[in-house]
Amino acid sequence: MKTVVSGIRPTGHLHLGNYYGALQNFVRMQHDAKCYFFIADYHSLTTHPDPVHLHENVTNALAEYLAAGLDPQTATIYIQSDVPQVAELSLLLSMHAYIGELERTASFKEKIRKHPENINAGLLCYPVLMASDILIHRADFVPVGKDQEQHLEMTRKFARRFNTIYGVEYFPESMPYNFGRELTKVPGLDGSGKMGKSEGNGIYLADTDEIIRKKVMKAVTDQGPTEPNQPMAEPIANIFAIMKIVSAPETYGHFLDEYNTCRIRYGDMKKQLAEDIIKVVSPIRERIAQIKSRETYLGEVVAHGAQKARESADETMRCVREIMGIKRF
Ligand code: TRP
Repeated sequence: MKTVVSGIRPTGHLHLGNYYGALQNFVRMQHDAKCYFFIADYHSLTTHPDPVHLHENVTNALAEYLAAGLDPQTATIYIQSDVPQVAELSLLLSMHAYIGELERTASFKEKIRKHPENINAGLLCYPVLMASDILIHRADFVPVGKDQEQHLEMTRKFARRFNTIYGVEYFPESMPYNFGRELTKVPGLDGSGKMGKSEGNGIYLADTDEIIRKKVMKAVTDQGPTEPNQPMAEPIANIFAIMKIVSAPETYGHFLDEYNTCRIRYGDMKKQLAEDIIKVVSPIRERIAQIKSRETYLGEVVAHGAQKARESADETMRCVREIMGIKRF
């Protein structure tokens, strides 16, 4: 069976884009591969050192994962900091990571540009820590979006370098896993691009019905078509794309027809869209709330995940120490 690793930084709520994009695929994948899904709390410290909210953010991410259908009995679901072997591997791999290549990483350069006041070594070593997350379980595949591909390339580089330096074939070359056609891309509500974390562009799984209605009604539209079958501007195409994902085919067909015959009233369409999004989100939101209220259960899930993750991590570290010549007296 192939091994899959995926991490998420607990820096905000999951949105509908995460749900259709990754989570639903994870839910399917957990039965076909040995899956490790973890919450990357160490990584979040590179940009969000926030002792007041960290635990709550981790809890939210965990509850949202579980509410979306990830099964802690099937997959290994854990918190990164519960597996300190990851930090140990990161330290060891950093001995063979060069400052130059770390400085040239696109995500690092972007962070420097955006936050010149906080260029910390954790950020510089972000790719090493991420490589450790992946290599600690010797993953075959990592489902990642475009923005993480360079990090994954670096993971392979570190793995190959380790193998070469020590003359072993120990670490695999972890490959990006692309869901391909199965990957549903959810656009944002602000007129361009995909749904992300930026303000006003996304619907969160934890959003109330009222918030969903408000956000959808504020979605960017235009003056409406002036001739039949007019090509759609991006904001309109985006609203239709979301409707296609969440609404019944007849509903989608109805509004498409209205558009093509220039009768569309975006207000009506958005009202319908909001209700259809609510049908998807409200049961998930309720499960999130229910899961979050069961503290003992969450504790058990996390302890069970940590135990399974540590078993795999211990085995890797035993081999890595031996390969590197770190011997016990
Ligand atoms: N860097 C990833 C992101 O920002 C999160 C992450 C950390 C991750 N470690 C990982 C993803 C290991 C996959 C595998 O989205």
